[in-house]
Amino acid sequence: MKYVDDITKLFTRFGANAQSYQEIQPNYKDFKDDPVTPVLAEPESSEALSPPTSTLPVFLLDEAQPSLLLGAPKSPPLTEPPASSATGDRQRLSDLLRELNQVRRDGLPETTRKRTKAKVIAIVSANGGVGKSTVAAGLAKTLRRPGGRTIAIDLDPQNALSSHLGITRQVPGLIQLKEQGADWDAHRLPGFRDSECLPFGTGEMNDRRLLRQLMLEDSDWLNQHLASMNLSENDTVILDTPSGATVYSQQALDAADLVLVMTVADAASYLALDTMTQWLETTRRRAQRHRYVLNQRDDSRSFSRDMGVLFVRRLGADLIGTIRLDHQFNESLAYGRDLFQYAPESIGCQDILSLSGAVRALLFADATSQQGTP
Ligand SMILES: Nc1ncnc2c1ncn2[C@@H]1O[C@H](COP(=O)(O)OP(=O)(O)OP(=O)(O)O)[C@@H](O)[C@H]1O
Ligand SMILES: [Mg+2]
Repeated sequence: MKYVDDITKLFTRFGANAQSYQEIQPNYKDFKDDPVTPVLAEPESSEALSPPTSTLPVFLLDEAQPSLLLGAPKSPPLTEPPASSATGDRQRLSDLLRELNQVRRDGLPETTRKRTKAKVIAIVSANGGVGKSTVAAGLAKTLRRPGGRTIAIDLDPQNALSSHLGITRQVPGLIQLKEQGADWDAHRLPGFRDSECLPFGTGEMNDRRLLRQLMLEDSDWLNQHLASMNLSENDTVILDTPSGATVYSQQALDAADLVLVMTVADAASYLALDTMTQWLETTRRRAQRHRYVLNQRDDSRSFSRDMGVLFVRRLGADLIGTIRLDHQFNESLAYGRDLFQYAPESIGCQDILSLSGAVRALLFADATSQQGTP
């Protein structure tokens, strides 16, 4: 089938006219956020989380205190002395339990969470194989700030990120270092171009399950580990994740200052944009930014170029980078070589550098201006 037919079909599907490249206006106003955004439970068979409609908290507090929680009149603030000791105690206990329930459901309030000083970037996608690990490694190699370090952390059980950074040894990773108190600093490995990497690691199925369970039970698991690392405001952490809404990507989203959504120039990725946007909106934490990166645009094919145009029109300024198709990414991965060393002029390197510049402007311009503010 000719590409012209492809395009016509695609535009028809979007309800548009191929002749005029009609702009598609996304309409999210009907989307309703979940009242509670708990750590979502994963079905055992796959790594995917329940869709955003699932609001079951992982911790169902002993709702078995209805006599305390229900029917009680609006309680006075905790600081007020109780009217009578019995009623007052009851109300105070009721308040405390309610507060505890809230914290268990929603996690600690933003202000009381311990956070790393480093800038954290999470790389996520709806679809698999769209270049998350390639871009995570590319940024880890190019984003280092003066006096700082760049640490790429693999939250994907495929454990592939370290290979993108030239690390081939089997070493302990998150699977082995899952308990709070484990020394993540001591296990960072040197990768290409002064990058550092903490792999996911390999282990028995049961080890993997235990790690996942820890994440499910503690929405702040990653934040706490990052906070315990010896990182400064000049350091950058890059989190690689598996595709889709998994407990791993949820942890990454909860830790990130900037979320980069990877997508490729094809119809499936275009159609997944709405789902992705909804998922991100339900998990957005304060001051977090979401930006998009279009990968594998093939300029030798007009369909791919046309899809590129659609993505630009749809995402506007939120699209902060386009990486063109460059088979040298694949070859360098296969031979364990650093593309920046053996083909620095390649379009892949150029595009990664330009993405890196855009990320730097977004994240570090803020840091610089904040440093100047009292
Ligand atoms: N711009 C590109 N041009 C050509 N090949 C690319 C490009 N980006 C990535 N690739 C190749 O595509 C394949 C998938 O990339 P990558 O592993 O980074 O995707 P991913 O999103 O991390 O996949 P997964 O969802 O399985 O984790 C790799 O072989 C990689 O070398
Ligand atoms: Mg990957």
